[in-house]
Amino acid sequence: MRVERAALLGGTGFVGRALAARLVRAGVAVRVVARNADAAEGLPEGVTALSADVLDAAAIRRAMAECEAAVYLPGLVHGRSRRVFHDVHVRGAQSCADIARELGLQRFIFLSALGAAAGAPAWSDQTKAEGEREVARAFPGTVVVRPSLVLGPGNHFTTRMLDLMRRLPVLPVVGPGTRVQPVHIKDLADALRGLLKDPLEAGPVIQAAGPRVWTMIELLEVMRERSRVRCRLLGLPESVVLALAAVAERLPESPICRDQVRLMRTDKIADAGLADLATLGIEPADPLSGSL
Ligand SMILES: NC(=O)c1ccc[n+]([C@@H]2O[C@H](COP(=O)([O-])OP(=O)(O)OC[C@H]3O[C@@H](n4cnc5c(N)ncnc54)[C@H](OP(=O)(O)O)[C@@H]3O)[C@@H](O)[C@H]2O)c1
Repeated sequence: MRVERAALLGGTGFVGRALAARLVRAGVAVRVVARNADAAEGLPEGVTALSADVLDAAAIRRAMAECEAAVYLPGLVHGRSRRVFHDVHVRGAQSCADIARELGLQRFIFLSALGAAAGAPAWSDQTKAEGEREVARAFPGTVVVRPSLVLGPGNHFTTRMLDLMRRLPVLPVVGPGTRVQPVHIKDLADALRGLLKDPLEAGPVIQAAGPRVWTMIELLEVMRERSRVRCRLLGLPESVVLALAAVAERLPESPICRDQVRLMRTDKIADAGLADLATLGIEPADPLSGSL
């Protein structure tokens, strides 16, 4: 199927920008939709920016009108109540999927996360799993993409961690033994572009993970070494981090909340039984290339 027009809901973020740039290069008319899309700087040339909240059904209907495909990208890791996560991962996603079906779109992709599970300890993972279910019900044929940590130029994780490592003599590490399998943004964006073009024969879920598994502290050690930064990494007991996060999450620009601590209780790695990038013919690159 040829996708002529696509709506990227949450398209001004890290993943959305990379995907938008690829789609524009492939000749697709791209609408990026986010609450502050009008004010977003440095969007790929050629995209149309539309400001709307995913919970505003009328605005989303206008944004998706005449599109063949939509990708749902909004996602949170920070929040002080389950409702905050539910609004974005479930209510907003389900409403957008309903509208996509009513408008007759042919493709709907939902960005979830490795670790999403109804019984997961973190609200963010629980509500991603609920979102996967509800979106698939609302839009039959939905493709769910579950990335691990996404790295690459301008990514949130290495930018923030290296900034802290350069400023602090000791960096406390949340979930030091949690295993992650970071994926390079170019591989994720290629996968999403491919999934918009061709129907998925492998099944409704694709895991986007990189070529190797690290524990969180191993990953930070490699980043520290490759960037030649001197900073001690200190794995703290979860009870201590939870107590700190309970105080920190009340601050306006808080660096951490308790749900992020709970998120790190479970590994974010691919399950050997499910489809992954190799299923799409993508050989995953070193996720740290261009990330440091
Ligand atoms: N980056 C990673 O390492 C990673 C790992 C696993 C899974 N994922 C998943 O991949 C997806 C994309 O991640 P990302 O890193 O690109 O996220 P991001 O950079 O934080 O971007 C999120 C986007 O969603 C928009 N947004 C948030 N709330 C919205 C709302 N209520 N209505 C409309 N737009 C809204 C934001 O713009 P405004 O603030 O202007 O609305 C922004 O455009 C997320 O679902 C995330 O959970 C990411």
